[in-house]
Amino acid sequence: MEEQAAKIRIDELREILRENSRRYYVDNAPTMSDFEFDQLMHELERLEAEFPQFDSPDSPTRRVGSDLDAPMGANAEAGARQGFVQRPHRYPMLSLGNTYSLGEIEEFAARADKTLDGTAFTYSCELKFDGTAICLTYRDGKLVQALTRGDGVQGDDVTDNVRRISSIPQQLRGDYPAEFEIRGEILMPYAAFDALNREREAQEEAPFANPRNAASGSLKLINPEEVARRGLICTLYHIPAESVTFDSHSQALDAAARWGLPVSGERRICRNIGEIKDYIDHWDQARKYLPYATDGIVVKINELACQRALGYTAKSPRWAVAYKFKAEQACTELLSIDYQVGRTGAVTPVANLAPVQLSGTVVKRATLNNADQMALLDIRVGDWVFVEKGGEIIPKITGIDPGHRSAGAQAPVFPDRCPDCGTPLVKAETEAKWFCPNQDGCPMQIKGRLLHFVSRKAMDILAGEMTIEQFYASGLARTAADLYDISKYQLLSLEGWQDRAAQRFLDSLEASKQVPFERVLFALGIRYVGETTAKGLARHFGSIDALSEASQEQLLEVDDVGEVIARSVFEFLHAPAHQEQIARLRAAGLRFEGAGQDAAVSDALAGKTVVISGNFSISRERMKDLIVAHGGKAGSSVSAKTAFLLAGTKPGPEKLRKCEKLGIPVLSEEEFRALLPEGSDENTGRERQGLSAAFARVGSEERSVAPIAEERSLPSRPKNEELIEEPTLF
Ligand code: IVH
Repeated sequence: MEEQAAKIRIDELREILRENSRRYYVDNAPTMSDFEFDQLMHELERLEAEFPQFDSPDSPTRRVGSDLDAPMGANAEAGARQGFVQRPHRYPMLSLGNTYSLGEIEEFAARADKTLDGTAFTYSCELKFDGTAICLTYRDGKLVQALTRGDGVQGDDVTDNVRRISSIPQQLRGDYPAEFEIRGEILMPYAAFDALNREREAQEEAPFANPRNAASGSLKLINPEEVARRGLICTLYHIPAESVTFDSHSQALDAAARWGLPVSGERRICRNIGEIKDYIDHWDQARKYLPYATDGIVVKINELACQRALGYTAKSPRWAVAYKFKAEQACTELLSIDYQVGRTGAVTPVANLAPVQLSGTVVKRATLNNADQMALLDIRVGDWVFVEKGGEIIPKITGIDPGHRSAGAQAPVFPDRCPDCGTPLVKAETEAKWFCPNQDGCPMQIKGRLLHFVSRKAMDILAGEMTIEQFYASGLARTAADLYDISKYQLLSLEGWQDRAAQRFLDSLEASKQVPFERVLFALGIRYVGETTAKGLARHFGSIDALSEASQEQLLEVDDVGEVIARSVFEFLHAPAHQEQIARLRAAGLRFEGAGQDAAVSDALAGKTVVISGNFSISRERMKDLIVAHGGKAGSSVSAKTAFLLAGTKPGPEKLRKCEKLGIPVLSEEEFRALLPEGSDENTGRERQGLSAAFARVGSEERSVAPIAEERSLPSRPKNEELIEEPTLF
């Protein structure tokens, strides 16, 4: 075929395949059979191989469904930070001193009184908006820059994204100053938050825990179009006194409102502590009816001269303080209690509640933690219970309303047998939880372990709850090692599996063989070994052999490993059944050595700092791993030290500009991969194929989800602390 004809056909094929994958993945209404689709895909692959000059990183051969698919979006969220240029704040972005006590608000007022020594002043009381802070700069009435708080000294430049938030004007009106900064909060209203989480859940993406996380995650998205879709709003509450000439804070904000900026109308000038208390009391109740989250009120000294006189501590202004509301509670009826069995066998009581609104979302289930907690609460089915949300997505029951108990209310009986397999439950004295000891036979535990193994943070294998259920029911997999023995023939014999879905699963399985040792260790599901601990152990010992040979004392040398964890690791690795599993997984080709990212595959990039920007055929996190695996360093911003910018699709314009200015080369993914040694490229090629497949959704196939957060790894956990075990309820 002639070059020109090939180009036309390649473009045509890409178009058809993209359109069909959109129908397939997004609309769930494919208009082409799998077979036809695969034929066209193969034709494109052949043409691309024959005419490499037309190769493109976003060809459907490399990015099946990924452009359209939410998992890519979520991925962008996870690795978005590096996509932004960091810039210094003109005035540092400080935080606020905060308190839960009215007494301390009185003390704040008394201190200000004393320092201001008789000067008359007033207070501006405002809502404390629970979103993510933003600093806008307007020059000649035009929005020129938006920075996140960052570390307070410099923030990420998210101007392009902020331009997509409709309540933030691009152009001011009226008598605005030539240049000024204004700060505030980006918020995601509850309605937008619920819609986003519904969408994420439908795609088996982890939902955001709260609107604040959702707002900050959204602000860091790479794709401004997606930001526009998220329904973010903005409210502005602070103009640094240095940048304007008003007498008071309230005058400055009133002026900002006249210039067209979004400023809250819920501000009040208070003259004394009594008025401040009234404001607090009002909003402690009224905030429940606001369409967005607030977590307190802010009291500011209103007169700018007084603010200047009071000044700042290193962390916060002396002219303002935040009064935080207590966590919101709801009261509702306890309908029944379920007992969930996690992958470690821990049994968690879960309350089914009459649906109730709490902090903007409807709550139907809440954890009761364990039998002791139930006894402590003296809870009965039919009771009215108080529910609270902490920082986590799973609400908890904090109390009961004794005035509401009906005469016939029955005390629940904690089961003495496993609700799944009927084995008598056991409880060690040191444990708060009851356990099903039938580790090898209890279906919930077996499926829970498999789900954990395939989850994104572990092996990232394309299998969700439905698939694991099928594998279990058909006897195809009981252990992680069994997964690697599954053949395409076996998959096709399962209900609903077609060639493409089977191939995708097998590709993701193949790709998982490149997952670094630290994640393999996490995937094994050793009790108390979360991601952080796994990383620590992998880095310390470097291989499963060294780890297996370690004594409990040697295990204790690892950061954050206390006796409980050391014993758990030791016992796990010395159990013959686990040793056999590990041997099988090793034989299947999984990585059981290498200190995580330090495990160099080659030194092709030794001494080179590579900055990456845009989207690739694999996630940015994986791309960084790849750079490090080949001896390079993944840098976050372009500087004279940058060896080259690795640009995927939609690279950050700022980064490109900076490269041009500094004369730094920009490489495509293709060019980058060409730098890596032959043999390793074969591996990474496989990884690429598998992982991009893993981002695709396969018809009604589900993404893998981290199913059971029993052993969450807590970043700065003190040694020996018992880990919280929580079921995934929603
Ligand atoms: S004034 C120099 N006003 O809460 C500090 N902050 O926890 C100027 N916040 O850093 C901040 N609502 O991100 C101010 N009405 C309000 C606020 C507010 C929310 C945020 C802001 C601040 C944080 C402190």
